[in-house]
Amino acid sequence: MAGQGKGDRIEATLIPGDGIGPEIVDAARIVLDALGAPFAWDLRQAGLAAAREAGDPLPAATLESIRRTGLALKGPLTTPVGGGFRSVNVRLREAFGLYANLRPVRTIIPGQRYDHIDLVLVRENLEGLYVGFEHYVPVGDDPHAVAIASGVNTRAGAQRIIHYAFDYAVRHGRRKVTVVHKANVLKALTGVFLEAGRAIAKQYAGRVQMDERIVDACAMQLVLDPWQFDVIVTTNLFGDILSDEMAGLVGGLGLAPGANIGDKAAIFEAVHGSAPDIAGKGVANPVSLLLAAGLMLDHVGRSELGDRLRGAIDAAINRDQVRTRDMGGTATTREFAQAVARRV
Ligand code: NAI
Ligand code: MG
Repeated sequence: MAGQGKGDRIEATLIPGDGIGPEIVDAARIVLDALGAPFAWDLRQAGLAAAREAGDPLPAATLESIRRTGLALKGPLTTPVGGGFRSVNVRLREAFGLYANLRPVRTIIPGQRYDHIDLVLVRENLEGLYVGFEHYVPVGDDPHAVAIASGVNTRAGAQRIIHYAFDYAVRHGRRKVTVVHKANVLKALTGVFLEAGRAIAKQYAGRVQMDERIVDACAMQLVLDPWQFDVIVTTNLFGDILSDEMAGLVGGLGLAPGANIGDKAAIFEAVHGSAPDIAGKGVANPVSLLLAAGLMLDHVGRSELGDRLRGAIDAAINRDQVRTRDMGGTATTREFAQAVARRV
């Protein structure tokens, strides 16, 4: 099995990343050490730090490490907006064929605007507009007069991710999968996804219910009545947008984990980015990355440790009332990590 090392230690790649990355990765190490998590870390660089030191935001040594371990926990990586190098996150997903991006959101702090949220977003992770087939057409002296992007969705890719979503629903006792698309306008690009959804849903009839929504209506309904949803499966860009919206339902980006899963490797991370506005201040919320580590424990068959980790996060926040600033508290990243470590 991927990531299985000698004895009961499991070798895994650890990437601190950019911005708040090193702070929340430190926090995760404090908690995972206290938990007695079985990971033996192979520390590797990626992102801005790697670009500066190794001249490449995704060094060969980092790729080689993940190829060997098949397992990584990763801090966020900064991607330049507009020009500059291509997203390292996207390159990692492509390099290891990480076709499924699993993003569960669950109420952690009760009594907020939305209570009892328990939703799972399954995002197609390799296709759509994220393929980055883009170019400009210059007109006169304006080199950026026209911008053109092409998206690519394949039937095989759509079938694979929709199967993954329905299988996930079966394995986790979920009742419904909602297929989200924009096939009224992008008739080919997202029509192929909807077609696959309708076909595959039939194979799960009687076990998992299928529902379909147009993405804009889905975005609104998530705000009005999120409890009508259960598992949502959608294309790459829509999944990117809806997963941030869903993180908002449970109190923000500091509370939402993500898993990038392929047949040969899996990379676990927070849904949020490198948060340059708060980097270096020691105030970032490490819960997203901690929950991602929980998904990583589930993935290697150590759900009992994952459950203990989730229980300790809940106890630190709700019983000990230790919270970072975004959760309405005053704890630093490290104080919060220590509070969780005491509870594991
Ligand atoms: P962001 O997610 O980094 O930040 C958005 C807002 O949420 C900011 O106000 C930030 O302070 C807050 N926030 C995020 N995580 C938080 C945490 N753990 N605790 C407390 N507050 C938190 O999004 P932004 O600013 O659009 O992107 C910054 C950089 O991150 C960009 O270069 C982007 O490309 C990159 N990024 C990387 C991702 C990854 O590595 N998987 C995912 C998303 C963005
Ligand atoms: Mg995003």
